[in-house]
Amino acid sequence: MALVTMRQLLDEAAKGNYGVGAFNVNNLEQVQAIMEAARETESPVIIQASRGARKYANDRFLYHLMEAAAEVYPEISVALHQDHGNSPETCKSAIDLGFTSVMMDGSLMDDGKTPADFEYNVRVTREVVEMAHEVGVTVEGELGTLGGIEDGVGSGEVHLTDPDQAVEFVERTGVDALAVAIGTSHGAYKFTSEPDRDVLAMNIIEEINERLPTTHLVMHGSSSVPKELVDTINRYGGEIRPTFGVPVREIQEGIKHGVRKVNVDTDLRLAATGAIRKAFAEDPSEFDPRYYLKPARAAMQEVVRARMEAFGQAGHARDYDPISLHDMAARYREQGHQLTTV
Ligand code: G3H
Ligand code: 13P
Ligand code: ZN
Repeated sequence: MALVTMRQLLDEAAKGNYGVGAFNVNNLEQVQAIMEAARETESPVIIQASRGARKYANDRFLYHLMEAAAEVYPEISVALHQDHGNSPETCKSAIDLGFTSVMMDGSLMDDGKTPADFEYNVRVTREVVEMAHEVGVTVEGELGTLGGIEDGVGSGEVHLTDPDQAVEFVERTGVDALAVAIGTSHGAYKFTSEPDRDVLAMNIIEEINERLPTTHLVMHGSSSVPKELVDTINRYGGEIRPTFGVPVREIQEGIKHGVRKVNVDTDLRLAATGAIRKAFAEDPSEFDPRYYLKPARAAMQEVVRARMEAFGQAGHARDYDPISLHDMAARYREQGHQLTTV
């Protein structure tokens, strides 16, 4: 795998009018599933780790998993991204670890729960932009807050992104990518019915994109929570309540209007859990973890493959040569924080 900055990867996506899935990893099977799907579809990809993932797997294990992916998948362009960094310190530790992109989520205070005010958000995000761009690393900021507290990220309160504030935020911070709140939330329980245009504020994306055409927009909480994955879990003893996610066609609509990074975690969790429950039910005498982890990995790969095709990133893995962090740093120094193009 060729390690690229997220900035380059998203600039290329903008040129080609496609979106790039950013998939969360915590363990070996997730890394393998995502990389295999990237190979199968010849896709560039963003692999991201939350603070919880870094704690669960241990930074050194995550680092070496990524090194192994680099050896095994030399043809795939990958950006390594810190998901929901809660403070400049977290972002700094990710950069030190070798991540090529960080999210400073200053929409929340550093407890990852309490909504923060605009000035706090600008201050911490600007601090991270200065530190990261110095070494060529990409920065994603967030304005507005998502709902959903099931997975420990988010306040549960929803504040949709205000386009006027978005313009001021990008100008004052110099972020490369901006996560916008349009009514989605993390986790499986996003909507109680199929979301329509009143529930999912796609007009916010359209307006921000018109006013900030060179800022890459990010959709968090973008799992689609497919009914068949929920049904499989429930058929084999699970208890997932009726629920709806973000329809893929709405994400595709967003991609037409500047969404370049699409965050998906829950769908992989659902796929893995369904496959493991099924394997347990089908042969209760089995106790070799490979017996249930193999179908879990295959089920995650299938979800990632489908998203890569739907987001349009398929076929673009080898479109460009990676720009080194060193050269990216020089570009920021020459052009200022807000690059117009790479
Ligand atoms: O932002 C939410 C992602 O799904 C990561 O979740 O914090 O449980 O690892 P996590
Ligand atoms: P989902 O819970 O919808 O997969 O969202 C993941 C996400 O936004 C990670 O930052
Ligand atoms: Zn998120």
